[in-house]
Amino acid sequence: MSETMKTDGDPVIEITDLHVAFDGRAVLRGVRLTVAAGGPTVLVGRSGTGKTTLLRAMNRLNECLPGCATRGSVRLRLGGEWRDVYAPGLRPEELRRRVGMVFQSPNPLPVSIGRNMTMPLELALRLPAAEWSGRAEQALREAGLWDEVRDRLNQPAAALSGGQQQRLCLARALACRPEFLLLDEPTASLDYKAARGVEDLLLELAEKYTLVVVSHSLNQARRLARRMHVLREGGQVEAVEPEALADKDRLLAFMDELM
Ligand SMILES: Nc1ncnc2c1ncn2[C@@H]1O[C@H](COP(=O)(O)OP(=O)(O)OP(=O)(O)O)[C@@H](O)[C@H]1O
Ligand SMILES: [Mg+2]
Repeated sequence: MSETMKTDGDPVIEITDLHVAFDGRAVLRGVRLTVAAGGPTVLVGRSGTGKTTLLRAMNRLNECLPGCATRGSVRLRLGGEWRDVYAPGLRPEELRRRVGMVFQSPNPLPVSIGRNMTMPLELALRLPAAEWSGRAEQALREAGLWDEVRDRLNQPAAALSGGQQQRLCLARALACRPEFLLLDEPTASLDYKAARGVEDLLLELAEKYTLVVVSHSLNQARRLARRMHVLREGGQVEAVEPEALADKDRLLAFMDELM
């Protein structure tokens, strides 16, 4: 087993006493959460409880938002080692490459499909141009998009369907060879069929990457979740028992209470 391989069930994210505030208003107060390797972990909770904020704390994206203050500990198992993401020594840009994020609405850059893929390789990873196309193709294949775009890499990314755009965003994150993928309601803006396509893809990707998925959908949680946590107002996190995950009625009652 390689250094970086994780055994199913081993903790890979440990968050303790995490506080996040915007303009002095506390959003997360003392979050404690452990995420284990193996299968997507789904995070649910009422609107406004701070799920997006919690994901953004894992790759320090909150720091890009004005008025945001964070304290506490977020530790990730990166490259086989525990790293405190807020400690000096791990640059935020490096962290965000290794902990990729996909957002609720597809956000391709207003350039071609191909350039969406090569820009991070050039600007974030500073790879030589000779390596771009191979990496881009590999990531597009992994995102199940290669056959659909191989003949139109020069076309604007905006010309793709919503589901294709979201898979392009996934491919863009994969091109940086991340270890974690944070997905914030990744199918919220897609129709049923496109959403199912992305869900199937996420299940495949979960074999290789640690996935944390925020979802509002009962059906999606049932299809995706190996593990599930609920974020309550103020930042208390509860793990959902595996038996509740397997029982549709219990899960429905549970999700109902959250909506
Ligand atoms: N950039 C920001 N500036 C100021 N306040 C923010 C910012 N981002 C989030 N907040 C506040 O933090 C709180 C939690 O927001 P967040 O988006 O994390 O919730 P959420 O659980 O993801 O909600 P939803 O399910 O609706 O997406 C909200 O009160 C929101 O107004
Ligand atoms: Mg959100």
